[in-house]
Parts: sequence; C-alpha cells; structure tokens
Amino acid sequence: HLVCPMNVSPVVDPSKSSHEIWEEFSMSFTPAVREVVEFARQIPGFCELSQHDQVSLLKAGTFEVLMVRFSSLFDVKQRTVSFLSGRSYSVEALRSMGAGELLSSMFDFSEKLVALQLSPEETSLFTALVLVSADRTGIEDVSLVEALQENLIRALRNLITKNHSNEAAVFTKLLLKLPELRSLNNMHSEELLSFKVHP
Ligand code: HEM
Repeated sequence: HLVCPMNVSPVVDPSKSSHEIWEEFSMSFTPAVREVVEFARQIPGFCELSQHDQVSLLKAGTFEVLMVRFSSLFDVKQRTVSFLSGRSYSVEALRSMGAGELLSSMFDFSEKLVALQLSPEETSLFTALVLVSADRTGIEDVSLVEALQENLIRALRNLITKNHSNEAAVFTKLLLKLPELRSLNNMHSEELLSFKVHP
C-alpha cells in the first residue's frame, strides 16, 4: 500500500517493483508540485530572492502549500479521503492499509481550516505566507525573506479585516496554522523517509 492521497490509489499492484511504484507515484504528484513552483513565481517579490533562497523555501514549504491546497481531499463529515484519481476511501480502510496518527492530524487541520470559510483570495494570500514562512535553515538573505513575509502578513490582515466581522479571531487562527503545518510537515517527512527505506 501507499496511503498518500497524492497517489492515484492507496492500493499498489504487487507485481510492480518498488522503482515502478515510485515512478507511478511521481507521475501522480509532480503536476501538483509544478503548480506550487508556478504559484511561488507569482508571489510579488519571490523572484527577487536569490535562486538559492527560492529553492530552499520551496523545498521546505511545498508540502505545507499542498496541504492547504488539498485540504478539501479530507471530507470530515463522511470520514473519507479522496485520492488524486478522484476515488475516495474511508478512514477505516486507510487505517487497515497502514495509515496512522498523521491521517487524524490532517483531518483535524482540514476541519479547522474549512471552518474559517476563507475566500479564494484569502486562501491564496495565506498560501503565499505559508511558503514564505517555511523553515529558514540555510536561507542566505533572511532579512529579505522577512520583509516579504511582513508584506504578506499586512496584506492578509487587511483582506481579513475587510471580509470578516470577527477579524482578530480569524487572523489569529490563521497565524496559529503555521506551526501546525510545520508539525504536519515534520510528521509527514518521517512517513516519507520510512517509506523510502522499507517500501
Ligand atoms: C503518506 C509521499 C504530499 C498526505 C505518505 C507516504 C509517502 C508520501 C511516501 C508514506 C506512504 C506509506 O507509508 O504507505 C508524499 C509526497 C508528497 C506528499 C512525495 C509530495 C508531493 C502529501 C500531501 C498530503 C499528504 C500534500 C495531504 C494533503 C499523506 C497522508 C499519508 C501520507 C495522509 C498517510 C499518513 C499516515 O500514515 O497516517 N506520503 N506525500 N501527502 N501522505 Fe503524503
């Protein structure tokens, strides 16, 4: 099994080699990863960062951006997860195929994000902030990234003030999503690593 929803299906053909399984999985998630790169290029100021810092932020933040973008794959009411093929699987089925605590944490995250009822514009700005807030280890020009982050925070706060009556609460909850995403990212990286070691 390969229980990541970025795959076409959690069930893998037992006659395939681990190389073939990984090839097929890559074909499934690569378009989504490319979209993150395209999205990053459109963040005002992102392309002014050095090539090195752009790559570092993308490496650290792509999963987190995808998590926000694909949070709708987690159907909290039905307790199902849609895979990229469009087919959905119950939590129980995924658990029996090896999914664990991380799956539950992703459900919690998605439920709280959806509850904030962000507009597409707000989601997009929040997603830009997620990427620019990615792990700073190895960043060459931290102050340039910080300046970019401050602009995005200001723009997001203005937009939320315009759209929500309880803006302070919504804005605070959004900022508190950043460390949650970091933690999901760390847990997910461990799943990915251990899958690579024993597929
Ligand atoms: C698990 C890869 C993005 C959700 C995994 C596993 C791998 C993987 C190899 C382990 C599978 C197993 O042990 O059966 C990747 C790659 C990604 C990616 C390469 C980059 C494109 C995402 C995103 C989400 C996600 C964006 C959420 C929207 C999950 C879940 C699991 C998982 C729910 C199972 C967790 C559990 O065992 O509790 N992923 N993933 N992945 N991934 Fe991903």
